[in-house]
Amino acid sequence: MDGATPQDWRAEGKARGIPAPIAMLAELTHRCPLSCPYCSNPVELARKSLELDTTDWVRAFQQAADLGVLQLHMSGGEPASRRDLIALVTAARDAGLYTNLITSGIGLTEKRLHELDAAGLDHIQLSLQGTDAAMADRIGGYKGGFDRKMKVASWIKDIGFPLTLNTVLHRQNLHQLPDAIDMAVEMDARRIEVAIVQFHGWALGNRSSLMPTKEQAAEASRIVADARTRLKGTLVLDYVPADYHSDYPKPCMGGWGTTGLNIAPDGEVLPCHAAQTIKSLTFDNVRDKDLADIWYRGAAFNAYRGDSWMQEPCRSCDRKKKDFGGCRCQAMALAGDPAATDPVCVKSPFHAEMQTRANQFAADDGAELHYRSQPLA
Ligand code: SF4
Ligand code: FES
Repeated sequence: MDGATPQDWRAEGKARGIPAPIAMLAELTHRCPLSCPYCSNPVELARKSLELDTTDWVRAFQQAADLGVLQLHMSGGEPASRRDLIALVTAARDAGLYTNLITSGIGLTEKRLHELDAAGLDHIQLSLQGTDAAMADRIGGYKGGFDRKMKVASWIKDIGFPLTLNTVLHRQNLHQLPDAIDMAVEMDARRIEVAIVQFHGWALGNRSSLMPTKEQAAEASRIVADARTRLKGTLVLDYVPADYHSDYPKPCMGGWGTTGLNIAPDGEVLPCHAAQTIKSLTFDNVRDKDLADIWYRGAAFNAYRGDSWMQEPCRSCDRKKKDFGGCRCQAMALAGDPAATDPVCVKSPFHAEMQTRANQFAADDGAELHYRSQPLA
């Protein structure tokens, strides 16, 4: 440190037009009882022995609140695998953060849910791998997982936690989308997140088995649009479309280094979930530096802020303030350059090739699912 305080970093950031982040994703652990082929966590997972301890996380939550973060999303892996989960929720609430737990439900008992309620947990997002046991247990690679999840959903409803149902849909389970929407209504969920699989991390190696067809992608958009009208006032639908079949990219992270940050289980602070796939970046660790220092001054956060890093066609495009050139990690994975235009965009020289490959992946009927593997300890 150079003697500067968080107030100094904030003032400096403000002068440079850098807003404070609104949300932080705390990846409490990469450990997970499920082994979903669509997992977007890195191929190399952080081992348990390298995870931040309770004290590290509590300090990070306070620093996040001081930095201006309002919402804390606790995820993994499976965050319920952390034995100190109740203490972490308590600390986050004490720091004044809105707390959201993103979970498969495995590892949550009725007693533990009551303890989370008493600790002040504000919201739960429950993941859904399929709408029946056969599909859910096959995709999650966990026998009995669906029945367990339904039990957890009933406890969540009894306790009265605000609930969002998270569905990741792909070629294997997209036909279950209407059932998933019905399930969300039956569970009294306030919101359903309908996300067509995004190919980051482990999922990138499963494109042949998971890529939806173009027709499936279009049908999903139609079903979501219809449900949004039909269920107005009852259920909110958040939708992440199948971007390989789109013409324009998503505004990933709402723009790099503008609204959110992630802390990986080992304490590395990332501008987005998949940033470690960009090998030219170096990441600070919350064990060594204050979050405000990392947010405002960190090399990784400043790498793709604003638009001075952009190349053509993004640099002179009138959509650049809308989508920020798309996703840096997808540009890295598909164009080999994190500063390139996201190949989802029709203006990218890689767009046509990407769509051809998407259709080839989607036509690979014999492709097998490669289940997520876990490190030993
Ligand atoms: Fe977005 Fe770049 Fe495509 Fe323009 S050229 S639409 S800014 S990705
Ligand atoms: Fe990293 Fe999109 S996932 S910028």
